[in-house]
Amino acid sequence: MTINKTLTHKKTLPFLRWAGGKKWLKKDINDLLPRNGFNSYHEVFLGGGAIFFHLEPKQMIFLNDLNQELIDTYRTVKTNVESVINELKKFENTEEFYYYIRAKKYRLDSRRAAQFIFLNQTSFNGIYRVNLQGQYNVPYGFRTKNFLEPENLRKVSESLQKAQFSNGDFSRTIDNVCKGDLVFLDPPYTITHNNNGFLKYNQKLFSENDQYRLSKMIDQIKEKEAFYILTNAAHFKVKEIFDKGDRVLKMKRASLVGGTNAKRGKYSEYVFTNCF
Ligand SMILES: C[S@@+](CC[C@H](N)C(=O)[O-])C[C@H]1O[C@@H](n2cnc3c(N)ncnc32)[C@H](O)[C@@H]1O
Repeated sequence: MTINKTLTHKKTLPFLRWAGGKKWLKKDINDLLPRNGFNSYHEVFLGGGAIFFHLEPKQMIFLNDLNQELIDTYRTVKTNVESVINELKKFENTEEFYYYIRAKKYRLDSRRAAQFIFLNQTSFNGIYRVNLQGQYNVPYGFRTKNFLEPENLRKVSESLQKAQFSNGDFSRTIDNVCKGDLVFLDPPYTITHNNNGFLKYNQKLFSENDQYRLSKMIDQIKEKEAFYILTNAAHFKVKEIFDKGDRVLKMKRASLVGGTNAKRGKYSEYVFTNCF
């Protein structure tokens, strides 16, 4: 049987490339959700929101990330998507234009959001990296893929209409969590996949202490009789911190290490959850 692709309903896709994105978990996430449903949906380390866009919850939605430019971009795509699209139409995917846009400081929300999306889509590897002055410093990527997909961006905006955004440390999101809610937590991985333990250079990004703080937050989620799904590196130290006698799953995924195709391998990650 042939499927007419133009008639198939296309799902909303994340509009950003994001390091540590959970695209690989999409195929399993439905099996992990609470069997009898959940009330509000919370994602506290939003990034590119692979799981949020996959689930497209119809409930109340709370989305948070520490990265202010990221959350500002989501907010503007939610409220003013046509202006963002119009701004993006003025951009061109060339090396010269990339560095011109990278150096700009815009005041207008729609232009700033367009700048963020453009740099994310045309940069070297889609990681978000800033220098000590807080300036985005990822080099040009020589990518040929379209950086503007208006149809998908409009769908993204639609999916975000019921979302409430916050921009801060994960610990501040607990106040919104109520009984029966689902909290998806995908923190930065600060532990190597081999047995070397915590990554020293990542200390500032998300330290061992942050992992313990996160563990306390999960205790609070449980006290509120809400559900959590936490992804994290498969490392004995992580298990020690987060094993609360709930479900612990070790999942395999293909991964690119160090950004080089040469080192493609299979890595395990932990999923901790009290969903049943
Ligand atoms: C692994 S990424 C999330 C990826 C996302 N699940 C996806 O599919 O694209 C982790 C995110 O946590 C954010 N983050 C880092 N430290 C944080 C903190 N203390 N509180 C909240 N968010 C934080 C980072 O900005 C990053 O976007």
